[in-house]
Amino acid sequence: MAQTLLETLNSATSLLKEKNLPNPRSTSELFLSSILNLKRVDLYLNREKILSEKEKDKLFFYLKERISGKPIQYIIKNTGFYGLEFKTDPRAMIPRPETETLVNEVIQHFIKKESEPIKIIDIGTGSGVIAITLAYELKNSFVYATDISKDALELALENAKIFKVEKRVKFVLGDFFDPLKNKNLVDFFDCIVSNPPYVKDSDYKNLDKEIKDFEPEIAFLCGDDGINFHKKIAKEGVKYLKKGGLLVLEIALGNAEKLLEFLSSSSLYNQIRIVKDLAGIRRVVSGLRS
Ligand SMILES: C[S@@+](CC[C@H](N)C(=O)[O-])C[C@H]1O[C@@H](n2cnc3c(N)ncnc32)[C@H](O)[C@@H]1O
Repeated sequence: MAQTLLETLNSATSLLKEKNLPNPRSTSELFLSSILNLKRVDLYLNREKILSEKEKDKLFFYLKERISGKPIQYIIKNTGFYGLEFKTDPRAMIPRPETETLVNEVIQHFIKKESEPIKIIDIGTGSGVIAITLAYELKNSFVYATDISKDALELALENAKIFKVEKRVKFVLGDFFDPLKNKNLVDFFDCIVSNPPYVKDSDYKNLDKEIKDFEPEIAFLCGDDGINFHKKIAKEGVKYLKKGGLLVLEIALGNAEKLLEFLSSSSLYNQIRIVKDLAGIRRVVSGLRS
């Protein structure tokens, strides 16, 4: 039976609500705007549009996937981040909105110095969201982006090509700073950024099933201490960071003070500060290399 866009939106919303899925209306809007290639607000301007059989089949497939627990971003293969649309699939973790806080810190720090070339390294780049947004926003930057996952780096390169920054983002496979070894990059970088894995192995079981069933485990697990990887990046990174260079790390809820204390006591960094995300959570720690 022919159904208008608005009727389809209403029935998709009712179905997701019936299945107790969160945000049924916005999920249905996202699905339909992806299928019809319309902005969410424009769905309502086109409310009388009749969907084709192909469009209805696609929506049915999306709804089935969502009911099976698959995250929305893996279904529509897209995530909005810092005003850009990133290709998203299970090769890498879904970019989270709180990571925009980290990206914004770096942009605000360098935006006034844009005439000078800015050399940045992003450790654990995943889908490439941090490295690519920085390259896109800071036109005079060059970004090294590392990851231990070959799959993630493949997706990241695809994203870099979408935003035409692939010549200014170099993706390298390997463990933390290992890919930089023997490359003459000591005292080379103006900035180190990372959103490293920060879920303790013992806490992983408490994460949402949606994360455990669909997103790569390696993007979350960090051993027995939530700041293990942060400490390693701060310690090893000193060698590659110029004096006065910026370190910016994303951190789990409740761990910012611990990292701040570690960085202060090490005397490797100064002007250490904590930045809150939009939800008011102490999410990012930054400092300058002493
Ligand atoms: C929390 S995710 C962050 C991904 C992306 N930067 C973002 O913010 O959406 C952490 C990333 O670190 C990578 N990773 C895990 N262990 C690593 C290691 N030893 N060396 C380099 N990257 C690692 C994972 O593959 C994953 O892509």
